[in-house]
Amino acid sequence: MPRWITVAKTDELAPGQHKTLEVDGEPIAVFNIDGKFYAIQDVCTHDGGVLTGGTVEGSIITCPRHGAQFDITTGEVLRMPAFEPLPTYEVRVEGDEVQILFE
Ligand code: FES
Repeated sequence: MPRWITVAKTDELAPGQHKTLEVDGEPIAVFNIDGKFYAIQDVCTHDGGVLTGGTVEGSIITCPRHGAQFDITTGEVLRMPAFEPLPTYEVRVEGDEVQILFE
């Protein structure tokens, strides 16, 4: 059953910052991009590499392993060798809490 999980406080992440955490063993990365929050699975769809640690420019993250690029806001693949989009999470802000819809 999907449920909303608090993953950060709104003042914890300034624009351009991100954090990582695990929810039920699933690695998740939460980003503040231009004041809006986004959450992605922190696992590259190419070969399972951890995505964070790669460079982030605007809304684009580059996998540090083989260079695949994804749009953090949509999960869309922007550069091979990945083909599968990145799972993303619905995000909402409740008071001062950033929450994701986790299934
Ligand atoms: S594991 Fe990310 S590009 Fe290969």
